[in-house]
Amino acid sequence: MKIKTTFFCQNCGAQYAKWQGQCNSCKEWNTIAEEIIQKAEKASWKPDDNSSKKAAKPLRVNEIDSSAEVRLDTRDGELNRVLGGGIVPGSMILLGGEPGIGKSTLLLQISLRLPYKTLYVSGEESQKQIKMRAERITSQEDNCYILTETKTQNIFRQIQEIEPDVVIIDSIQTLHTDYIESAAGSISQIRECTAELIKFAKETGTPVILIGHITKDGNIAGPKILEHMVDTVLQFEGDRNHVYRILRSLKNRFGSTAELGIYEMQGSGLREVANPSEILISHHEENLSGTAIAATLEGMRPLMIEIQALVSTAVYGTPQRSTTGYNAKRLNMILAVLEKRAGFRLGMKDVFLNITGGISVDDPAIDLAVVAAILSSNEDIPVEKDCCFAGEVGLSGEIRPVNRVDQRILEAEKLGFASIFVSKYNKITVKNTLIKVRLVSRIEDVAAALFG
Ligand code: TYD
Ligand code: MG
Repeated sequence: MKIKTTFFCQNCGAQYAKWQGQCNSCKEWNTIAEEIIQKAEKASWKPDDNSSKKAAKPLRVNEIDSSAEVRLDTRDGELNRVLGGGIVPGSMILLGGEPGIGKSTLLLQISLRLPYKTLYVSGEESQKQIKMRAERITSQEDNCYILTETKTQNIFRQIQEIEPDVVIIDSIQTLHTDYIESAAGSISQIRECTAELIKFAKETGTPVILIGHITKDGNIAGPKILEHMVDTVLQFEGDRNHVYRILRSLKNRFGSTAELGIYEMQGSGLREVANPSEILISHHEENLSGTAIAATLEGMRPLMIEIQALVSTAVYGTPQRSTTGYNAKRLNMILAVLEKRAGFRLGMKDVFLNITGGISVDDPAIDLAVVAAILSSNEDIPVEKDCCFAGEVGLSGEIRPVNRVDQRILEAEKLGFASIFVSKYNKITVKNTLIKVRLVSRIEDVAAALFG
């Protein structure tokens, strides 16, 4: 039989008839590689050829069974929330994240806790290594089977034997199928193995969770197509030097993508953080200048975060600007607004900005706290105690309204803040709050209120 080959871009999965230097679709250089594809045998998840091919039949909408799908409770509040209430049977979930962030830890921990029979397939670590990891994580259930295997046909053979309720694959990049000749981790292998697993999941109703590696530019390695194929894409992120990890859903066919889970990496695995606001605020006894609290929303969850700024006269000619967790361009914009609209001389100052806890936030509502922290450091006057901020700063120095302001106000109140600065243009419906809502329309108003 003639061997058929095609060229695939290893970055985006685009297919070409011949090699070329640059991919037309994602514009990356040197990403196109030849892969062997064999069309003759069609991929199947079943190891032996089972000829009972049941073709699907169309049904009228009314005939389709709509009894609320039962979701598997993962025994992990954060994961349940992000998934929209648990794992949907027969669904395919992809968990992406940088190396070392804790993907294997999270899924092993969940497999150990699940009250169902789970099969954890690892192509990366030996059974011993996984056992060592499992020993760090205290477990109650012993329903978790560990398999070290990379060939899908062998995995399916074990699945038929064990009949697990949930299958976890660590990671999709290590799998290979007999039906494709190219190396594990190549586009066609990833696509084919995923297709086999999807077929298996849909035909048997067994949910499958895949771990996927992430490239340095933050995409799930290999093809974008992987994201299109699965039902749910979760991303595990955070700063490896910090203990907090955020679990986000980027795509979810069975729930909202606005939910978010927060974990803390401990010596004994990942701990769910039920009340994130409290941990992200460092508690100082005395009031320090240069810090301000922002009432932000991450997804649907209100979150109080601390912004720290340090403004000092530039020692070397060009002033430095540096940020962690906040968009650097946005910081430059805010500095320009402060200079031009409110007359603060910050042009020759070094400005450093930091969001505590190692998380990054792109909610524009934190602008106002950024302004407060910068001004506080510049004036060397602490921001009033027990006061927080929620407002976006516009180019003319106006404070713009933010979404879901009520929820932010209520969270601040719940945490015992005495007052919150919000835009005058925000429609506020909560009434009779204990917290004082201070309406401002321009950054000068805030400066005047805080630093006289
Ligand atoms: P890992 O889950 O292997 O990350 P990934 O699969 O995403 O590559 O490991 C994450 C890191 O967490 C690793 O450096 C060791 C650390 N760790 C803990 O701090 N506590 C623990 O209980 C475990 C199991 C790991
Ligand atoms: Mg891993």
